Amino acid sequence: FNIDIPYNEPVLSYAPGSPEREELKQAIKEARVAERELPAFINGERILDGEKVAVHPPHETAFTLGHFYRGTTEHVHRAIDAALAAKPTWEALPWQQRAAVFLRAADLLAGPFRARMNAATMLGQSKNAYQSEIDAVAELCDFFRFNAYFLQEIYRDQPLHSPPGTWNRLEYRALEGFVLAITPFNFTSIAANLPAAPALCGNTVVWKPAETQIYSAVVIMELFEAAGLPKGVINLIYTDGPAVGDIVFKHPDFAGLHFTGSTKVFQELWREIGNNISGYKTYPRIVGETGGKDFIAVHPSSDPEQVAVAIVRGAFEFQGQKCSAASRAYLPASLWPAIKEHVVEKTGSLKMGTVEDFGNFVNAVIDERAFDRITKYIADAKEDADVEIVTGGNFDKSDGYFIEPTVLLTKDPHYVTMEEELFGPVITIYVYEDEDWEKTLHLVDTTSPYALTGAVFATDRGVIEHASKALRNAAGNFYINDKPTGAVVGQQPFGGARASGTNDKAGSALNLHRWISPRLIKENF
Ligand code: SER
Repeated sequence: FNIDIPYNEPVLSYAPGSPEREELKQAIKEARVAERELPAFINGERILDGEKVAVHPPHETAFTLGHFYRGTTEHVHRAIDAALAAKPTWEALPWQQRAAVFLRAADLLAGPFRARMNAATMLGQSKNAYQSEIDAVAELCDFFRFNAYFLQEIYRDQPLHSPPGTWNRLEYRALEGFVLAITPFNFTSIAANLPAAPALCGNTVVWKPAETQIYSAVVIMELFEAAGLPKGVINLIYTDGPAVGDIVFKHPDFAGLHFTGSTKVFQELWREIGNNISGYKTYPRIVGETGGKDFIAVHPSSDPEQVAVAIVRGAFEFQGQKCSAASRAYLPASLWPAIKEHVVEKTGSLKMGTVEDFGNFVNAVIDERAFDRITKYIADAKEDADVEIVTGGNFDKSDGYFIEPTVLLTKDPHYVTMEEELFGPVITIYVYEDEDWEKTLHLVDTTSPYALTGAVFATDRGVIEHASKALRNAAGNFYINDKPTGAVVGQQPFGGARASGTNDKAGSALNLHRWISPRLIKENF
């Protein structure tokens, strides 16, 4: 059993007339037929009890896609018990057996589950076909395959010296206890990987997804089941976050948190874990990816059209709802007119509408709360004499939560939308005088508490080298002459430090190490 370095799952194009488009259309039709029940999964059992909540596509709020049942505290206890009961058998399996489950899941996802997973992500999270394919299929296959490969390399690695007469070895155990995964709506792949990565390492998991991602979460559980994941290894529950935290963080067997979400919530959870620290058997591993205020900083030596493509794609793909999305840009006065022309032209050509029309690039933001929060920033900007709406600025929630891709121009580099994370299709531009590049780098570094992704555009190598150094701590994923989004597993491990998280690089061996607690064994003979 040897896992070769995997290839990245090819991204299908869904071009008009392609077989994958026809298959996906059929899957969407099937997904739309009936109001489906979206069960929780505890110990492999499908659970349908609790407060009934309707699920609507964000782009078509009058249509009911299905229902889930907001769980009770009893669900949390049952899920923890199931995880602890499944643990001894699961962690005792040779690692190859655990890897086989996730390798099988990748093959099923690339095959028979592909269209269903895309349909669920498109309808449930309002992602267009191409964005969904990149996330829910390609990236998720990559997480499964690369993590299996990385685990093999970790197990193989015995960096120990054994003098004659001794045998020193590392035994790569799972953590002692269970892991809690709290997952976001914006990437189906991240939502699945947060429970899957610890599980691959022999842990068992309680998984609490965002309520706005439940449709695709259910398909993920069906995928795990079809791939042979034993019951109780991953348990999916929909109990309210604070109620989950209240029980999990007081449990002596709580051993790890794998989190993606807001900085505020992550800090609250960390505090709660800290308050309970004497009650645990082991120090819990805390791994989190949180907010971002991701930048594009452009040197006067750059190509205006290349910059404009990065701004439009970086800011507006998936309606800007990526932790990596470009949301502040620093552009030199000499290039601004040319960049502006390209940005306005390219943004104006983006079609907005439902995901079922494959020609639409821009779809709805995730829910009403997000819509109201983002549009408040736009409305305030319209009132502000020092801010110009370069393009976009309209929004409407009568059928779905639609917000036009919006470019703001501010004279104040500390304007609120240069500093706060909006998590929507809005980018703010600050134009600096060409000779102020050095000052601009300082602004980029100090304006926001986050440090997730960022991009620098320049052709002069000295400038590139200097900017990389000046912004050394400003981004965990630092791009040169590219947009700051779209990290690919196995190519660009993802994560940032400062207020953006613990920087444990999803899609790399560094992340898996957090779910392993090695035992050193020394033997004399
Ligand atoms: N991996 C995604 C990206 O790089 C963000 O989570 O865009």
